[in-house]
This record gives sequence, structure tokens and C-alpha cells, in this order.
Amino acid sequence: MSKPKHFLTLSDLTSDELRGIIGRANELKAQQREGVAHARYPGKVLAMLFAKASTRTRVSFEVGMRQLGGSALFLSSADTQLGRGEPVEDTARVLSSMVDLVMIRTHDHSSVERFAQFASVPVINGLTDDYHPCQLLADMQTWFEHRGDIKGRRVCWLGDGNNMCHSYINAARLLDFELVVACPDGYQPASQLVSENSDRVRIVHDAKEAVQGADLLVTDVWASMGQEDEQKERSAAMAPYQLNRELLAMAQPDALYMHCLPAHRDEEISSELMAAPETVIWDEAENRLHAQKALIEFLLG
Ligand code: CP
Ligand code: NVA
Repeated sequence: MSKPKHFLTLSDLTSDELRGIIGRANELKAQQREGVAHARYPGKVLAMLFAKASTRTRVSFEVGMRQLGGSALFLSSADTQLGRGEPVEDTARVLSSMVDLVMIRTHDHSSVERFAQFASVPVINGLTDDYHPCQLLADMQTWFEHRGDIKGRRVCWLGDGNNMCHSYINAARLLDFELVVACPDGYQPASQLVSENSDRVRIVHDAKEAVQGADLLVTDVWASMGQEDEQKERSAAMAPYQLNRELLAMAQPDALYMHCLPAHRDEEISSELMAAPETVIWDEAENRLHAQKALIEFLLG
């Protein structure tokens, strides 16, 4: 049996495949708006394993599967045998025999890799401690929708060098944009990933310097899921990196800004920018639905 396609990081795609998914996501968005039915996968089932909380990922996958004619199962770790220690590989084999796709949101990236190794259906990373590739599909769709191709543009990541930042590094390579990461000492993205992409990625500790000439500013929470105990020290270290009107004014005049949500107002992003009528953050959230439907089509064929 041939190996299924998986989507564990953006690097599972070629540049052309990623551009294809973004283009298809925009077509699906238009079809949804116009009421054109696209239920291509009647009877197909997606199993969604969640070891961490979620609003957008859960709802977008569940609704997306319904719009494609299939359905989705929400499985929390607390209610499955995985949460009681059943090996990942056994769960992967069993779920593969019953469903057509699996999405996993968990802590260790290696457990998603292990799951994929033993699965005979496509596996999607719905966020790990290291990567959040589904969010990048939506972020890039949002950029393309508002501004066209991102090749040659400058993106500035502000704050924590976390899972989202890592996925931005992968996106910079695939879509050929420049990424400036503005973060405090001790909160840099993984050094190996940075050095492998040193022709695209630069670390700058001064936020004002980092945003100069940027076409897109992006931020995320300062304490990710699982880091709640570090909130105080992280907030102190990252305060100078808040995405606000002052920093935005130093970027390109038509710069966009994004946040994957959930947002903490007046921590990593100002209330003013969250409330601004021109923000694309709500498109970015909605695009999770369209981008993941395009991803599902790509994986199922
Ligand atoms: N952005 C995102 O992944 O949101 P959820 O945690 O609500 O799924
Ligand atoms: N970096 C955040 C993203 C949430 C969607 C986290 O991992 O909690």
C-alpha cells in the first residue's frame, strides 16, 4: 500500500503545492459565499485528537468536513485511551482502519511524527509545541487575498520564538519572503531551524529596528498552552515587543498585521489594533475554515 501524504509541518509541501492550496482556499471561500455546494467527500470521516484546548481549529475542521460532505469526530485525550497511556502506534493503527483522516493537537511534535509513521491515512498537525502549520495556511491565504503574492516581501514576527514563529520560518523558505524575528534574549526560535534558513531569517532584539520596512507584522501570545506558569516572567521580557499603533506606524504605510488568536489585549497586541476596523485578523480566523478544506482536498486527492 502506498504511503499516505501527511501534513506535519509546512515543509511537507513544495512551494507549488503550498501556492496551490492557498489558491484553492480562496476559490472555496468564494464558493461558500456564493452558496455553491462542494460536498466532494460523502461519508469521509476525520478523527480529531485534542490534548490541548481549541476553538478555531476544532470548529473549522468540523464545519469544513461537513461542508465537504463528510463528518468529524472530536476526541479529547481525557476521554480516549491515549490519555491513559495506550501507545500512539496502536491508536494510529486502529484509527487508520476506521477513519479517512486524522488531525492531532498535542504537546510533543515527536508524538505526531510517531503517529504518522504508523498511520495508513493522512495525518494533520493541528498544533504541537513546535509547529502550527494549519495556521500558516490561513495566514498566507489572508495575505494573498489582500495583497497578492508574498514573494520578496518582509514579514516581522514580534514576541516569542514559538510554534507559530517556527511555522513562519518554514513559510519564509517555501514562499520566498524575508522574516525578521524580534524577540528578547532567551526566547529565540529553535537555533537549528534559524541556521538552516539563515538566508531568509534574521533575529533582531530591538523591536523598533525590526519593524522598519515590514509589509506584515505578526504576533502571538507570550505564554503558549503549557507555559501558563511562566506568564509573569514572559510578560516582563516581552513587553517591549507589543504589537501596537506605534510599531505599526514604523512599518510600511500599507502594512498588514495578524494574530492567530486567542489574543490577550494590551499584552502582545494593543486593544486599539484588535478593535481597528481595518484589521484582517477576523479574515485570518475565518480562513482557517477555507484553507483547511483546501488542505483536506489536497490530502484526500
Ligand atoms: N489559532 C488557533 O489555533 O486557535 P484555537 O487554539 O482556538 O484552535
Ligand atoms: N502559540 C500558541 C498558539 C495558539 C493557537 C500556543 O501554542 O498556545
